[in-house]
Amino acid sequence: MKICMIGTGYVGLVSGACFADLGNNVYCVDKEIDKINSLNNGIMPFYEPGLKELVFKNYNSGRLKFTTNIKNAIQKSDIIFICVGTPTLKKKRSADLQYIYKVSTEISKNINKFKIIITKSTVPVTTGDKIEKIIAKKVKRKMFEVVSNPEFLREGEAIRDFRFPDRIVIGSNKKNVISKIKSLYDPLIKKGANFFSTNRRGAELIKYAANAFLATKISYINEIANLCEKTGVDVEDVSIAIGMDQRIGSRFLRAGPAYGGSCFPKDTKALTVTGDLFKTNMSIVKSVIKSNENRIHLLTKKIKEILSNKVKGKTISLLGVTFKPNTDDMRESSSLMMVPYLLKLGAKINYYDPSGKKSDFSKYKNIFYCSDIKKACYSSDLIIIHTEWEEFKALDFKKIVKKKNFKIYDLRNLYSAKQMKEKGLNYYSIGRI
Ligand SMILES: NC(=O)c1ccc[n+]([C@@H]2O[C@H](COP(=O)([O-])OP(=O)(O)OC[C@H]3O[C@@H](n4cnc5c(N)ncnc54)[C@H](O)[C@@H]3O)[C@@H](O)[C@H]2O)c1
Repeated sequence: MKICMIGTGYVGLVSGACFADLGNNVYCVDKEIDKINSLNNGIMPFYEPGLKELVFKNYNSGRLKFTTNIKNAIQKSDIIFICVGTPTLKKKRSADLQYIYKVSTEISKNINKFKIIITKSTVPVTTGDKIEKIIAKKVKRKMFEVVSNPEFLREGEAIRDFRFPDRIVIGSNKKNVISKIKSLYDPLIKKGANFFSTNRRGAELIKYAANAFLATKISYINEIANLCEKTGVDVEDVSIAIGMDQRIGSRFLRAGPAYGGSCFPKDTKALTVTGDLFKTNMSIVKSVIKSNENRIHLLTKKIKEILSNKVKGKTISLLGVTFKPNTDDMRESSSLMMVPYLLKLGAKINYYDPSGKKSDFSKYKNIFYCSDIKKACYSSDLIIIHTEWEEFKALDFKKIVKKKNFKIYDLRNLYSAKQMKEKGLNYYSIGRI
C-alpha cells in the first residue's frame, strides 16, 4: 500500500520504517528540514535499538522516503497517518492539539482522491470528530474517512513492539474502512497479534485508559514501597506475590522513581481534563498524578537524608538520566527535577548515560557529563542509579570509587540489598530494608 506518515518522530519514523519493511511504500514527512536532510544522509534523529539498520534497509530498497513535501506525499498515498506530537499545553493540563489541527488543514488542502486518514498520535476522545469537521470544510465527505489507530509502542523496544504488538486497535464507524486497515496489518495479525476494532471514539479513549492504568500501577507500587520502608518489608516480595495473582499481573509493579517519559505524564493529565470537560471526575487518575509529583519530592528528600543533610560540596554521580533504558528521550525524566534541586543545594554532579550528553543540563553550572561509568563515579560521595541500563547491573563499586564511605542510592533495585551490605557498602534502595 502507499502510505504517508506525517510527523517523523519516535512514532512516525519507527512505524514508517516498519510498514516499509512489510513491503509498503512509505513517505515519512516532517516540517523540520534538518531532520529530513539528516535522515536522507543516514543520520537518525534519536536513538532506538535496531532503527538505523531498518531505515537503511528500506531506504536503500526505495520503499522508504523522507521528505518535507507534504503535498506530494499526501497526493501519492492512499493512507495517511497523523503522527505529530500532542504535548501538554504550557501551564495547563490539556493536550495541545495545534499540530494535529494544522496537519488536518494541510491534508484538507491536498486531497486529490479518496484517503483514509488515521490518527496514530494520542488524541483525546472526540478529536477525530474535530479533524473530520476541519477536512470537511474543504473536501466532500465521501472523499475521506477519519480513523483512530492509537500507537502502543514503547521507546527502547519500539521495533519489537510494532512487529509483535499485544493488540492492534482500530476505531472507525465504517466496516469497509476497518477491513482495509486490517489488511495493512495482516502480516502482524497472521503472526498472532490481536486485532480489535471499535468505533472511533472508543479507540481514542482506549489509549488514554491504558496509559492511565499503567501509570496507576506504577504509582501504586511506589506508594506500597514507601510503606515497606517504614515497616521493614521488602517491596520486591510484595510485587512478586501480588503479581502472581492473574487478576493483577506482574508487569509494571517495580517500585522506582516517579514515572516519566513522553506519554504517561501528559496522557494522565489530558485524561483528567477530558473527564472535567465531560463532567466526569477522574479522581483516581488525578490522585495518581499527585502521587507521582510527590514522589519526586520524596526521593530528593531521601537523597538529602542519605547525605545527612550535607549536600553542599558533595559530589553526586548519576548513572543514567533518561526516563528509561535504551532510549535517549529525556522528556519528563525525573532526573530533570532531581538535578536542579541537588545543584541548588550545592552539590557537584557527574553523570554518565549510555545515550550520551544531554543538552537539557547545559544551562546549569557544576554538572559534568562523563564518558564512562568510572569517570563519573571515581570521586563520588553518592552514586544514584537512576536508569536501568544493562551496563549498570554488575558494577564493582569498590573498584570504581576512590572515596571511602561513599554511598549508593539504587532507584531501580538492581542489586541485592543483602549482598551489598555483606560487601560493606552503604547501600540504599527503594522499598527495601
Ligand atoms: N514516543 C512514544 O513512545 C509514543 C508511543 C505511543 C504514542 N505516542 C504518541 O504519538 C504522538 C507522536 O509522539 P512522538 O514521540 O513520535 O513525537 P515526536 O515529538 O518525537 O515527533 C513528532 C514529529 O512531528 C513533527 N511535526 C509537527 N508538526 C508537523 C507538521 N505540521 N508537519 C509535519 N511534521 C510535523 C515534528 O517536527 C516531530 O518531528 C504523540 O501523540 C504521542 O503521545 C508516542
